[in-house]
Amino acid sequence: MKVSMTVNGKAEERDVEPRTLLVFFLRNELGLTGTNIGCDTTNCGACTVLLEGESVKSCTLLAAQADGASITTIEGLADGEHMHPMQEAFREHHALQCGYCTPGMVMAAVSLVKEHPDGMTEAEVREGLEGNLCRCTGYHNIVKAVMAVAGTPAGAR
Ligand code: FES
Ligand code: FES
Repeated sequence: MKVSMTVNGKAEERDVEPRTLLVFFLRNELGLTGTNIGCDTTNCGACTVLLEGESVKSCTLLAAQADGASITTIEGLADGEHMHPMQEAFREHHALQCGYCTPGMVMAAVSLVKEHPDGMTEAEVREGLEGNLCRCTGYHNIVKAVMAVAGTPAGAR
């Protein structure tokens, strides 16, 4: 079946099997391997991308379900040479160790901060990110990075 969507601002169309998951569409069809697969069962959040600006686990959706939608992956977050403020905050606060969870964590954090334009408490950040697992248990610095962006004009980007 034909599936078309806008990915990181670029129109894409491919012929895929109806059972193709969005994460495989992004990785295998479009070569966007920044979106990781950790569990394949909706638990870890490594595969998180934005669909119409909201975070979704791309191993949980069929590519066909995203037909016609606008998707942003970690590759589409930076503005040219400039990293997104959330990427900057992760770098600054050392919010990664092995980095495997990082793309999904950053995408989930971007969506979470946008949902809370007036800022968040640390408890709210922890609750908001509980669907994303970090095997390196880097949570403390991840929370610090998200807190640094939450409620700022940069977070509204
Ligand atoms: S790979 Fe999608 S939630 Fe783990
Ligand atoms: S930094 Fe290694 S899984 Fe999170």
